[in-house]
Amino acid sequence: MNTSALIPVTRTVADLRDIVKKWHADGLKVGLVPTMGALHHGHLSLVNEIASKVDKIIVSIFVNPAQFGENEDLSKYPRQETEDRSKLTETQADLVFAPSVSEMYPDGFETKVAVPKLGKDYEGVNRPGHFEGVATVVTKLILQSHADVAIFGEKDYQQLAVIRRFVKDLNISCEIMGGTLVRENDGLAASSRNVYLSPKERETAGSFNKILKQLVIGAEVGKNLRKLEQDAASELLKAGFTKVDYVSIVDKDTLLPIDKIKGEARVISVARFGNVRLLDNMAINSKE
Ligand code: PAF
Repeated sequence: MNTSALIPVTRTVADLRDIVKKWHADGLKVGLVPTMGALHHGHLSLVNEIASKVDKIIVSIFVNPAQFGENEDLSKYPRQETEDRSKLTETQADLVFAPSVSEMYPDGFETKVAVPKLGKDYEGVNRPGHFEGVATVVTKLILQSHADVAIFGEKDYQQLAVIRRFVKDLNISCEIMGGTLVRENDGLAASSRNVYLSPKERETAGSFNKILKQLVIGAEVGKNLRKLEQDAASELLKAGFTKVDYVSIVDKDTLLPIDKIKGEARVISVARFGNVRLLDNMAINSKE
């Protein structure tokens, strides 16, 4: 592959800071798109979305060991930096920041950023310590890059809520954007996990979004929210999912369960085929 056709990469915090310092000195606004690589069209759409707000775009590619649990195989996570940098040439990205593990976590590193309440339930149950790992690395990436704006996909809705919380709590001066959830033609949320589905599971997976849409319609006309959650979970199992981890109608910021829709709320859900956990969520808007 002709590497001159790839987006340039920097691997150290010092180099990244030098580049961003020059951009800021020229009065340019800088955006950050944090990723763990293995980029799909959901990631590319985050780059395109942030482009409307900033002049320069950094895409970080870092498979963060701190957010993997003991039973999650960090070594099997796909690493394809050259392919990722090639895909990014189709976007408005300017720079890739791809630090090594020792650049991010040098000897003696021990600080953690924790958001204990927001990070406890839902994904926190299945992945203990996960959000601490995410919060710590995202804090570092924002502070390393001095980005003015950072974008995170709405598909990982709890992650986005956790990030908004600590950015506010720690007075980190970076605007956090939620990136539109990108869907495949049948409505399945775009995810790097979708490739693990068998053709039959992939076909069934298209029903996830339809079942949640029915729940949203019911919630918006004032039906009982607990009953809607139970019905959606039964429908998912009937459709062929092997397990439903949760279907929960929650406050859009605190993620606490609610009994009545006032303003905007959210349904968040995970349904599985074996070990493949698929995430989805949707906004619910009160009609009153
Ligand atoms: O969503 C992800 O890919 C990761 O959790 C993030 C935000 C890049 C932090 O490692």
